Amino acid sequence: MQIFVTGGAGFIGSEFIRQAVAAGDSVINFDKLTYAGNLENLASVVANPLYSLVVGDVCKADQVAAAMPEACDAVVHFAAESHVDRSILSAEEFVLTNVLGTQVMLDVARHRKVGRFLHISTDEVGGDMEADEWFREEGALEPSSPYAASKTAAEHFVRAAARTFGLDTIVTRTSNNYGPFQFPEKLLPLAISNALEDRPIPVYGDGLQIRDWVHVADNCEALRLALAKGRAGETYHIGGGDPMTNLDVLHMLLRIVGKPESLLTRVTDRLGHDRRYAVHFGKTTHELGWSPETTFEAGLTATIDWYKANAEWVSRCKSGDYRKYYETMYAGRETV
Ligand code: NAD
Ligand code: TYD
Repeated sequence: MQIFVTGGAGFIGSEFIRQAVAAGDSVINFDKLTYAGNLENLASVVANPLYSLVVGDVCKADQVAAAMPEACDAVVHFAAESHVDRSILSAEEFVLTNVLGTQVMLDVARHRKVGRFLHISTDEVGGDMEADEWFREEGALEPSSPYAASKTAAEHFVRAAARTFGLDTIVTRTSNNYGPFQFPEKLLPLAISNALEDRPIPVYGDGLQIRDWVHVADNCEALRLALAKGRAGETYHIGGGDPMTNLDVLHMLLRIVGKPESLLTRVTDRLGHDRRYAVHFGKTTHELGWSPETTFEAGLTATIDWYKANAEWVSRCKSGDYRKYYETMYAGRETV
C-alpha cells in the first residue's frame, strides 16, 4: 500500500509508521513539526526507502496537494493539537488544525482520488460516561473540552464528505494511548519521568477520574485492520477494556518504579474535567477481529522500562533539543 500519513512525527503516528514500513507499505509522512512532532521517533525508518517526510501544514491546501500522490491507497489523518490542557489555555490552534485541517485533508484527498480516508478520533468526543455506561459508536457526541469539541467538529466534516461526495472514510475513536515515545506532557510519560527523578507528580482534583488505557502498539494494529477490512463510512472504537481511576494507575506506576506515594501531589482540578471515559469496542472485535493484546500492568511495566532506557530522549524533549535532530538527520531528505 501507499499511505499518506499526517502527523506521523507524533506519538501514535510514529508507531503507525514504524508498523506500516515493517509490513512493507510505503509511507509519506506529512507533518508540520510542531512542538509535538519529534523526528527522533522515526530514527528507525529514516533510511528506509519506503519512508519519506514532507514538512507541511494540513491547513494549507497547496502544501497538502503538492505532497499527496494521485490515487494513493490511503490517507491516515493523525495530525492534530492533542493536549486537553493546552486547549483550555487557548483553543485557536485546535480549531485551525483539528477542524480546518481536517476539511482541507478531505478536500485534497477527494480531488486526488485517494482510496480510503482513515480519520483518527478520540473517545473524548462522547464526553462523560455514567458509572455503568459505555460509549458505543452510535452514542451521542457531547464533548466537554475545547480539544474534544474540535475533534467532534472534525468527525462531522468526515461524515459530511462521505455522504456528500462519496469519499470512502473510516473514523476510529481510541481511548488514552500509552507506550514509548509519548511527549512528557501527558499523564503517564510525565508521571514516569517525574517518578524516576523523584519529583512530585501532579494529581488533578481528587484523582478519581476514570480513563481507559490502550497500548499504542495495539491501537495501531487496530488502525491497520480498520484500513484493510473496515466498512466504508463506519466508525470503530478502540480501547483497553479496563477503565481505572487516575489514582489507581499512579499507585501501580509507583509500585513498579519502587517510589513512595508521597510523590503524588494534589493540584487544582482541570476545568470541565470529564469524570469517566469507557469506550465499548465490541463492534471492532466482531468486524475486524481485534482486541487488545497488552494487559495494562504488562504494558505499563514495559513502558517504564523504555523511559528508563531512554532518559536522554526525555531530557531532549524537555530541553527542546529534540528539534536539532531535524537539522542533522533530515538535511536534504525532505521537501517543504
Ligand atoms: P501528538 O500531539 O503526539 O502528535 C501530533 C502530530 O501532529 C505532531 O507530529 C505534530 O507535529 C503534527 N501536527 C500538528 N499540527 C499539524 C499541522 N497543522 N499540520 C501537520 N502536522 C501537524 O498526537 P498523538 O498523541 O500522536 O495523537 C495523534 C492523533 O490521535 C490525534 O488526532 C489525537 O487527537 C488522536 N488521539 C490521541 C490519543 C492519545 O491518547 N494520545 C487518544 C485518542 C485519539
Ligand atoms: P491526559 O494524559 O492529559 O489525557 P486526557 O485528558 O486526554 O485523558 O490526562 C489523563 C488523565 O490524567 C486526565 O484525567 C487528567 C489527569 N492528569 C493528572 O491528574 N495530572 C497530570 O499532570 C496530567 C497531565 C493529567
